[in-house]
Amino acid sequence: MTVLVTGGAGFIGSNFVFHMMKEHPEYRIVCLDALTYAGNLSTLEGVLDDRNFRFVKGDIADRDLVYSLFDEDRPDVVVNFAAESHVDRSIEDPEVFLRTNIIGTSVLMDASRRCCVKRFHQVSTDEVYGDLPLDRPDLFFTEDTPLHTSSPYSSSKAGADLLVLAYHRTYGLPVTISRCSNNYGPYQFPEKLIPLMIINALSDRPLPVYGKGENVRDWLYVEDHCRAIDLIIHHGRVGEVYNIGGHNEMKNIDIVRLILRELGKPESLITHVADRKGHDLRYAIDPAKMHGELGWLPETRFRDGIVKTIRWYLDNENWWKDIVSGHYKIVEQGLVERCR
Ligand code: NAD
Ligand code: DAU
Repeated sequence: MTVLVTGGAGFIGSNFVFHMMKEHPEYRIVCLDALTYAGNLSTLEGVLDDRNFRFVKGDIADRDLVYSLFDEDRPDVVVNFAAESHVDRSIEDPEVFLRTNIIGTSVLMDASRRCCVKRFHQVSTDEVYGDLPLDRPDLFFTEDTPLHTSSPYSSSKAGADLLVLAYHRTYGLPVTISRCSNNYGPYQFPEKLIPLMIINALSDRPLPVYGKGENVRDWLYVEDHCRAIDLIIHHGRVGEVYNIGGHNEMKNIDIVRLILRELGKPESLITHVADRKGHDLRYAIDPAKMHGELGWLPETRFRDGIVKTIRWYLDNENWWKDIVSGHYKIVEQGLVERCR
């Protein structure tokens, strides 16, 4: 079995590569990643020489490259993590989000049709449902909640989801989609809330909280997301959407305070800054379908996961310091050479 993992040098993709190599050592894993600013090949250094692993640097929207990769490697399953993933960047510059997240997905699906892949899995997000009000804790996103996006990022992901469902209906491509809540854990790029706050706190720099910090996110430890996708690609029903989340809602300000407490740093580091444009208020997933159909439940409680994550950033200073200094892009050239 050959599994093509796109975006495998990013946060969730790399955790998924590690998960699959551990749980299915007999599988061949091919990783296609453009190594944008968010891709870090050092993350995958430990598996680059594994005989069941292949890394290819390339853009999912590059049709010639994608077709020749599929012709060479004949993947049975494609799991598409590759995306521009940061909401703030999409507000500054939407275009690349449309190219990667929509066009790139369509190119991958065209290649999947040509090669008759057994499953095309699209890694999507709960942000496609828009947001929920803060004063209605009884409301959750189900798979039937209408798409109602707020940012260029979430709109591009929703566009891709619609295209994936259209390829299923029109061409019979065997697809599944998962829509997950906010992930946290090792190897998350330090532009996202949790790693940014950990790293700023460690460096005694201000912690920029958008607005009052009252916005709510539903946090899931990354390994629980990877396990859920593993279950979907093996046992999920073709043509279906699965919501993934662990009923773990937290206000941003409470997360920031918790990080400061764990690191023994003062709350005076918190700096309230201008709010994000169009800032979604609350995300909250109803994961009943994942549980009922596939028996999935999150295994890591937030309290344990956040302590593990903070510990990981403390123990892996080189990983994030190389990103902060830009050194990771210099090291990358040598690693790409090693993969040729
Ligand atoms: P990330 O930004 O950490 O990683 C994205 C990876 O995709 C990087 O390695 C990057 O180099 C690669 N990439 C970007 N453009 C590419 C292109 N054109 N061709 C090939 N590779 C390209 O993202 P992440 O947080 O790991 O998210 C992965 C996926 O999961 C995304 O599709 C995202 O929408 C989705 N998602 C993320 C979260 C979250 O909390 N982070 C939650 C739900 C869903
Ligand atoms: O819900 C899933 C989504 O979660 C994924 O689809 C996205 O790829 C991922 O980036 C994430 O989106 P968010 O916008 O929720 O994540 P982010 O870490 O950017 O922000 C989390 C919350 O923290 C959000 O309410 C904005 C706030 N925030 C963020 C940053 C970076 C701050 O207050 N200050 C900050 O500096």
